[in-house]
Amino acid sequence: EKIVALVLAAGTGKRMQSSTAKQYMLLGGKPLVCYALEAFERSPVDEVILVTGEKEIDYCKNDIVKKYGYQKVTRVVAGGKERYHSVYQGLKAIGQADYVLIHDGARPFVTEDIICRSIDTVKKEKACVVGMPVKDTIKIATEDTYASVTPDRRLVWMIQTPQAFSYPEILQAYEKIIADGDDSVTDDAMVLEHAAHMPVKLIEGSYHNIKITTPEDMKIAEMFLKEYF
Ligand code: CTP
Ligand code: MG
Repeated sequence: EKIVALVLAAGTGKRMQSSTAKQYMLLGGKPLVCYALEAFERSPVDEVILVTGEKEIDYCKNDIVKKYGYQKVTRVVAGGKERYHSVYQGLKAIGQADYVLIHDGARPFVTEDIICRSIDTVKKEKACVVGMPVKDTIKIATEDTYASVTPDRRLVWMIQTPQAFSYPEILQAYEKIIADGDDSVTDDAMVLEHAAHMPVKLIEGSYHNIKITTPEDMKIAEMFLKEYF
């Protein structure tokens, strides 16, 4: 069975407010996206497709894939305006596959163990998303910022990546979302929940598997890198 990973690196990183897109900022002397690529390189995934900005394709081919010698990266393709456009471009670039793992290039601390557990689970469940139970109490607010509902903390998860799916199913679900022009989509599981009404299994990732989003996240990443990776 063929397993393909899409590594998403086509965002502009507005919230990071840096001149270089965050996925290419240096962490421990290497572009940040390299850490995710290395985790997939060591994993049982057969192939990796790197999705980046139109203007960064040559940079990715030469200064990342070639320079660091990633054997599993078979293609570097251009993404789109929103994350879900980039996912769709990546999905279309996959010729044939049984399963696809969609991962944020801005999550450097994904591990081989998380990838393996995602693969095991997607084979049983068809759709599987990594996350962690929240630590803080979460409140749903009203539009005019009053607390309205407090969901049971044990049932609230923050969602991470990889998000793993049966390939034919997720491709079809994305085709439907793109045709409907639904831009409320912020994660891949939502696409299945909306377009295919398919159950999505949640499994634990780790509290280290953070997404680098704002400047303070780079400081946390440097600390994690020193202590654990
Ligand atoms: N991403 C992408 N294509 C887009 C938008 C995002 O491939 N059009 C990727 C990012 O590169 C990142 C991941 O999706 O690896 C998660 O997105 P996010 O953290 O929101 O990154 P950005 O959109 O780049 O950041 P921001 O929202 O602050 O602008
Ligand atoms: Mg974004």
